[in-house]
Formats: sequence, structure tokens, C-alpha cells
Amino acid sequence: MKITNICCIGAGYVGGPTMAVIAHKCPDIKVTIVDLNAERIAAWNDENTDNLPVYEPGLDEIVLSARGRNLFFSTDVEKAIDEAQMIFISVNTPTKTYGLGKGKAADLKYIELCARQIAAVAKDDKIVVEKSTLPVRTAEAVRSILDSTGNGVKFQILSNPEFLAEGTAVEDLLQPDRVLIGGDTDAEGQAAINALVDVYANWIPKDRILTTNVWSSELSKLTANAFLAQRVSSINAMSELCEKTGADVNEVARAIGMDSRIGSKFLKSSVGFGGSCFQKDILNLVYIAKSYGLDEVADYWEQVIIMNDHQKRRFAANIVKTLYNTVSGKKITFLGWAFKKDTNDTRESAAIYVADDLLHEQANIAVFDPKVEETTIFRDLDYLATRKPEENKAGVTVFQDPYEACRDTHAIAILTEWDEFKGYDWQKIYDNMKKPAFVFDGRNVLNGKELKEIGFIFTGVGKAY
Ligand code: NAD
Ligand code: UDX
Repeated sequence: MKITNICCIGAGYVGGPTMAVIAHKCPDIKVTIVDLNAERIAAWNDENTDNLPVYEPGLDEIVLSARGRNLFFSTDVEKAIDEAQMIFISVNTPTKTYGLGKGKAADLKYIELCARQIAAVAKDDKIVVEKSTLPVRTAEAVRSILDSTGNGVKFQILSNPEFLAEGTAVEDLLQPDRVLIGGDTDAEGQAAINALVDVYANWIPKDRILTTNVWSSELSKLTANAFLAQRVSSINAMSELCEKTGADVNEVARAIGMDSRIGSKFLKSSVGFGGSCFQKDILNLVYIAKSYGLDEVADYWEQVIIMNDHQKRRFAANIVKTLYNTVSGKKITFLGWAFKKDTNDTRESAAIYVADDLLHEQANIAVFDPKVEETTIFRDLDYLATRKPEENKAGVTVFQDPYEACRDTHAIAILTEWDEFKGYDWQKIYDNMKKPAFVFDGRNVLNGKELKEIGFIFTGVGKAY
């Protein structure tokens, strides 16, 4: 079957960029991205691409190249489902905050809603593609809902997890290491797989398009994120040992990374990993393992999260300890709030947790981030429900200018590795700060030697300065 009409449910960080790239690369396919969130859809349709709801380098050009031609953003979910031959489900799958599996299992209510809506609307055969990250064996539940209508419509269910990382989404989508497609092993399943392979083959070499059974595909996504996060927790565990022993974690990372069996990527020690995926997906993996009675497997992966929580907490504790055991009433400046550079996404950002700890110690926090909006910062803190929103408002001030954020501050903490931080006039920042002037570089991006020469008391991660 040749696909000419695609619908994607969910216009978020994954749905938006992935479908924009498909539309950009496949001018013969009409791609409609739908979402219940009318504000989000309006932002995707905004003439001014600075207002797109997702910031990703290069995304504006991709959207502009296809929007109105074969790429459409709409709130009319039913119409788009009805017209499409292939429907991607790209809705959010957060950790459950209630009931059975609370705090670990993935909340699949949005997935179920999509399946029910597809079942209700579809009048002809459809291929349904799981793009969201899902627990292994979710396709079984999706199938049961889709097949429950008994109206004779046949559905094929594929798993096509997304491996893009935020901040490099466009690059990752244009030149992915691989595309993974899982489907049924019978002839109809293979035909559905081939239809999706043909879409990607418009720009991706066939040897990078991997096909498997549905369960391998679903589980591979959770496994990939668990392995990546595990590398960060592993190097962060070593960072603490480095600080005690005089070793330098950057040197250790370089030394081990040159071993081709280990590889050099994902060995940057930091204040701790964030983002919407790693924690959620590992907790989900832990829950799945436990539900099969595999306690050792569950405990093994949970340790990656425990280590990450420890890394965030000890960063905050080190600030308090270094500032003479009290930050009460002191201004502490955060440079960066996003969970990594080149994104406006803050979900699970380490900054949120470090801020929470320091607010608990009665610090006054000043925040500057080049892409994150003030409302997002307060939403993140309020979501923790540690204290009243008025108290968060009283304890945190958001600045539009980094130099103002650093004026009269006792200490600066780098929470995100934005490139522009390296090019700041650090002498000017020093001159306008309280003395002694402290810098805590949670991303090891600044030149500690130069900052110390200026007069800063400098601390990074994983190195005794
Ligand atoms: P997101 O929250 O940015 O976007 C999801 C969108 O789906 C929201 O705009 C929401 O309004 C919409 N939605 C929810 N239910 C809907 C419904 N019934 N009908 C229409 N729209 C609905 O989430 P995201 O970051 O794009 O993640 C989506 C999925 O992709 C998740 O499963 C996530 O784990 C996975 N994933 C995310 C990333 C990433 O980097 N963010 C990478 C790979 C995979
Ligand atoms: C991740 C996966 O990389 C991606 O394949 C998947 O599709 C979604 O989840 P993302 O969360 O967008 O992507 O960003 P990623 O680059 O993986 O970074 C995650 C977190 O780990 C960030 O907070 C980042 O700063 C941190 N990190 C990453 C480190 O601290 N050190 C590293 O060496 C790498």
C-alpha cells in the first residue's frame, strides 16, 4: 500500500518535529497533526515561527517549507483520523500520579482515548503506529480496543518508537542512527511494516531501517533510554569519587571513552540528567520487571534513578555547605533552567530540584535562561507542591538579562550547558557580585582556571579544584 495521507495525534515535542520532517521529505504525502490543545495548534500555525511551541534548532525552516503545502496543524481530530491511511499516536505517556502503579507505571489514559477515538471514527482499514514510548505489550491493549467495534474495519498496529533527542531533534530526524519498526509477523503485518518503511525510505538508507516484531520494538525503546541514562548515572557516580580522590572526571571519561567497546558519548558528568523521558521510562521498566516478579532486574535499573536523585541533591547541598552552611536570605543565581541546552523544555530538569532544595534553605533564587519563559519556571516549582505558589513567587525572581541576574549575587550555579554562558564577560559579572564570589558549574562548561584567576571561588562536578 502506498501511503499518501498521514494523521498524527499529539502535536508535542515528538509529534511536531517528526511529522514536520516527514512532510518536508515526502511532498506527496499529506500530513495532518492534530491535538486537543487549541493553543498549541494555534502556535504551530503562527505566522511568526519564533512562536512555535517547540524550540529546536532548524525546526522553523522545516515547518515553513511544508506548512500549508502538505503539512497541516488542526484541532479537528476526527476528520484527520477519517481521512488518513496511517495514524501515528504521539501523545504523552507520563508516570502515573494515582492508583495502582502510582509513581512508576506509565499512565496510558491518553493512548486509550486515542485508540477509542480511532475505533469510533474509522470507516476503512487503517495502520495505527505507536510513536509514543509505551510499556512492552501495549499493542495488545490497543488492538483489543480497536477490534472491539466489530464494524469490519481491519487495523494493523505498528510500533515505531522515536529516538530523537531534544535540542538536536531536526538533525536526529534527518539522519537517524536507525529507524525501528515493529509489526506482526504475518503477511498483513509485513505489508503494514513495508508501507511505513517506504515512507522513511524517502530519505533514510534502507540499511538503517530496522524491522522487528512488535514486542522487541516496544521494549527496545525502554532499553535504549535505560542504557543511556545508566551511562550518565555511572559517570556521575564516578564524579563523586573523583572529587574525593583528586582524579578528574573529564580525564577519566576521556580515558575510558577511547576504548571502542565503551565509546565516548554520554559520558559527561553533570548535576544530573533531566528531560521527560529517562526517569519516566526507567520507572516504567522497573514497574514492568516487578510486575513479572523480576525483583533483581527492577532493583538494578532503579539504582540509576537513585544515583541521579543523589547527584542533584548533593549539588544543592554542596552550595549550602560552601556558603558557610547557610544560604538563608542570600541571592543565588541560576544560569539555565532547561534540562539541556538548545531546548525550551524543562520537564524533570535538575534545576527544578536544586531550586527546591535551596528554597527549603530560604535562599533567594534568581534565574536566567535564554529560552525558558517565566511562567514555565513557576509552573515547574508549583507542580512539586512543596510549598504554596505565593512562596515560590516570593523566593524566585526570573530575569531577562544574565548580568542583572548575577548582580549582587552571592553565588552562580550553572544548571544548563547553554553555549552563550561561556562567552559572558565574567570579569564584569565578578565585579558586580558579592565577595567572596562563588561559581558552581553543574555542567563543567566554564573555564575554571580563568575564573579562578579573576578571583572566583570555583567548583565544577567531578574534580577537586
Ligand atoms: P508532549 O506532552 O509534548 O505532547 C503530547 C501532546 O499530545 C500534547 O500536546 C497533548 O495535548 C496531546 N494529546 C494528549 N492526548 C490527546 C488526545 N487524546 N487527542 C489529541 N491530542 C492529545 O509529549 P512529547 O514529549 O511529544 O512525548 C510524546 C511521546 O513520545 C511520549 O510517549 C514520550 O515518551 C515519547 N518520546 C518523547 C521524546 C522527547 O524527547 N520528548 C523522545 C522520544 C519519545
Ligand atoms: C533522550 C534520548 O537521548 C533520546 O534518544 C530519546 O528519544 C528521548 O530521551 P533527551 O531526553 O531529549 O533524549 O536528551 P538527552 O540528550 O538524552 O539528555 C538527557 C539528559 O541527560 C539531559 O539532562 C542531559 O543534560 C543529560 N546528559 C546527557 C548528561 O548529563 N550527560 C551526558 O553525557 C548526556
